[in-house]
Amino acid sequence: MKPLLIQGMPLTRSLRNTWREAGAIITKRLPTEATHWKEMYDRHNCDVVINLGNRNREAWAEWSELPTEHIPVFNRPEEIRAVSTPGYLREHLTRNEAEDLLPPRLTEEDLPCTVWRKGPGFGGRGKERLYTTTMVYPRDNVEDVQLEITGHEYRVITVGNKVVQAHRRYGPNGDRTYEWIGVRGLDRSVRNTVKSAVFFLFDSPLMVIGWDVIYNPRLEYSWILEGNSSPGVNGPTATRILSAIESLMTPNREEPTC
Ligand SMILES: Nc1ncnc2c1ncn2[C@@H]1O[C@H](COP(=O)(O)OP(=O)(O)OP(=O)(O)O)[C@@H](O)[C@H]1O
Ligand SMILES: [Mg+2]
Repeated sequence: MKPLLIQGMPLTRSLRNTWREAGAIITKRLPTEATHWKEMYDRHNCDVVINLGNRNREAWAEWSELPTEHIPVFNRPEEIRAVSTPGYLREHLTRNEAEDLLPPRLTEEDLPCTVWRKGPGFGGRGKERLYTTTMVYPRDNVEDVQLEITGHEYRVITVGNKVVQAHRRYGPNGDRTYEWIGVRGLDRSVRNTVKSAVFFLFDSPLMVIGWDVIYNPRLEYSWILEGNSSPGVNGPTATRILSAIESLMTPNREEPTC
């Protein structure tokens, strides 16, 4: 399996190296034109494309005009849009009657309480925690306002509708650590929540997503905090993702377990 990774946003040097060591070829950040991707795909004999978070529909339109029907593409821009901002995520889940996968919206009965105002951005950017005695509404359609949930946080990776990797997340942004727990270490509620999110959000099973999930042990219930279409990975996770992609594309192949 030799995937071509398209960088939608700049990957750090260490993340690029991690993917390379797992066997991937990586596009330069620019140019992102389709002709450039196709040339790299052919030159390196790649057999699958993984689009890491690129929502550039214009470059993509150009890509789809190339004779590429035979090229499997993971994370097409039209699919990743559903998770690309907190507001779009709510919109898509609501449209599919699956809004309960997200922390609830604020209502008058909840006041006073603590909410999270969440805009686009990663690493905690664009996120604000606030205690409020009055209603707070999203300022635009990319933003979401949600009740604060207490519980354990996880990063869970799915490939298609399979859960392939799981870490527990500790500590605040900027000082965050990840502890490997493996898919079997996940509570069933967390597994079901991410699988439902994949089911309700994507038409195509060709998706690699890193889900941030919060689980409340007392309620035995979990909520999606967000979906990342360009998740950070370590070496074992990158290898596991590529192996899961290979299984998905060759259905009779034996699946790895962890
Ligand atoms: N509704 C919520 N209830 C409780 N905590 C929340 C909620 N929303 C966000 N948080 C906290 O804020 C953190 C960042 O949220 P989120 O993952 O949505 O944003 P992010 O910018 O992608 O951050 P990161 O890159 O660390 O994942 C979460 O890990 C969690 O600790
Ligand atoms: Mg996150």
